[in-house]
Amino acid sequence: MGSATLLHLLCLVIALVNVSLVQAEDAYKFYTWTVTYGNLSPLGSPQQVILINGQFPGPRLDLITNDNVILNLINKLDEPFLLTWNGIKQRKNSWQDGVLGTNCPVPPNSNYTYKFQTKDQIGTYTYFPSTQLHKAAGGFGGLNVYHRSVIPIPYSNPDGDFTLLIGDWYKNNHKTLRQTLDSGKSIGLPDGLLINGQPHSTFTGNQGKTYMFRISNVGLSTSINFRIQGHSLKLVEVEGSHTVQNTYDSLDVHVGQSVSLLVTLNQPPKDYYIVASTRFTETPLTTTAVLHYSNSYSSALGPVPPAPVDKYDFDWSMKQARTYRWNLTANAARPNPQGSFHYGLITPTKVIKLANSAPLINGKLRYAVNSVSYLNPDTPLKLADYFNIPGIFSVNLLQNTPSSGPGYIGTSVLPTSLHDFIEIIFQNNENTIQSWHLDGYDFWVIGYGLGQWTDASRKTYNLVDALTRHTAQVYPKSWTAILVSLDNQGMWNLRSAIWERQYLGQQFYLRVWNAQRSLANEYDIPNNVLLCGKAVGHHP
Ligand SMILES: *[C@@H]1O[C@H](CO)[C@@H](O)[C@H](O)[C@H]1NC(C)=O
Ligand SMILES: *[C@@H]1O[C@H](CO)[C@@H](O)[C@H](O)[C@H]1NC(C)=O
Repeated sequence: MGSATLLHLLCLVIALVNVSLVQAEDAYKFYTWTVTYGNLSPLGSPQQVILINGQFPGPRLDLITNDNVILNLINKLDEPFLLTWNGIKQRKNSWQDGVLGTNCPVPPNSNYTYKFQTKDQIGTYTYFPSTQLHKAAGGFGGLNVYHRSVIPIPYSNPDGDFTLLIGDWYKNNHKTLRQTLDSGKSIGLPDGLLINGQPHSTFTGNQGKTYMFRISNVGLSTSINFRIQGHSLKLVEVEGSHTVQNTYDSLDVHVGQSVSLLVTLNQPPKDYYIVASTRFTETPLTTTAVLHYSNSYSSALGPVPPAPVDKYDFDWSMKQARTYRWNLTANAARPNPQGSFHYGLITPTKVIKLANSAPLINGKLRYAVNSVSYLNPDTPLKLADYFNIPGIFSVNLLQNTPSSGPGYIGTSVLPTSLHDFIEIIFQNNENTIQSWHLDGYDFWVIGYGLGQWTDASRKTYNLVDALTRHTAQVYPKSWTAILVSLDNQGMWNLRSAIWERQYLGQQFYLRVWNAQRSLANEYDIPNNVLLCGKAVGHHP
């Protein structure tokens, strides 16, 4: 071949590559999910559970960065139903977030088609029902976003991939649990722990190979510790962040959180216990699954590896949390390195300190943020905003610092502006662990500390390589600080991931707002939007 022809060919190849990079439409993936009740005995005795397409847990969504999801949800329950996509940022698209502040629940014998994109995301996530305590009955599942082939990941492709949805479980059905909460009482401690809805699961791999373990805490109330007998766990990803790849004997995963681990099967060919146990509960609950080597000669034998020992309370756990770091040179879903965003050099435009509490209001247990216990209105806040329906929510209730007054009920929205950069300090003066989740974003978790946060606490912040994630724990009588870059317009739920607390009012909405309505900042209302409450009769 002459060099001119070769050059010509090269140019053609480059042109083709360019076309495929620039013009390739992001893929569309279509799903139809039908939600029904079923009867299963996850803890030995039969109980009512929620199935999606007959499955418990629901079907796993395996997606790729930038996929467009068109998912028709058909509700065959006797109650309104709504799913939320935990950690999917719904860029410019809080219309699809699937919480009561943004969406009407899907009525029985009705359907709603979600349309959203996994824009610039990678990692291990989950989905779950957001209303009516349905989460206590199932309806949750794994949601994995894999990298695009043109974008590298900072580890070799694993030889296999396991999704482990781990969570506490109650033997009472969701309606009974709901009645307990509605009557102003706590649902108390769970009855057991399940892995993928089962008391006993087996995961099979080949000796010498390396597997990805995607661990999510899908429970209602308790933190878990995860470990595998005889194997070390290499942490590679946390809720969309690529981490410095430390190895651990065990990891704490708090309610609503996810981590991705690499595990090499480098031990003699036997079976090994996979263990999850509850943390910070007086009597820990433990469940086991089995890691089965395909050439195994022996079943798993005790002792089951023990939970870590905190010399006092939770010092081990807090120390471990501080070892989770961003790998500054690795990219995430986009080609640029994570560390190219110097979050630590930006001065926050707003500082918000939020304290959780458990006040009695009208003689009933409620949970509150800065004394306001959130009540869901019949009209989603997002629709009230869009149709200019007054009187649905208040932007003046929630103060930027905790107050000492009694708790009260309200529908609180915190007003912010698009492109604000905010520092939030979660102050936990209670003696139970908290888990806070923000929809629409991930945020840098820059510090954990004991006692009361003060200005001096800022000296301990990690302003260089803190992780971004969507859910952060706050230890008992402690604080956690985060930074959030408010670049995603919409109405976003900030809530306790501990479901009793969320249900009884420990949540509110962050309205990230820009007076100018522009499609560059936010998508238009979907043409299939469901209307309810005072939005009925309005026309999108
Ligand atoms: C319900 O499903 C049908 C297709 O079967 C779809 O055309 C319609 O848009 C869905 N309804 C909503 C509100 O999304
Ligand atoms: C960080 O990511 C880079 C780029 O992929 C990789 O080479 C390096 O090993 C990672 N560092 C650590 C400490 O995990």
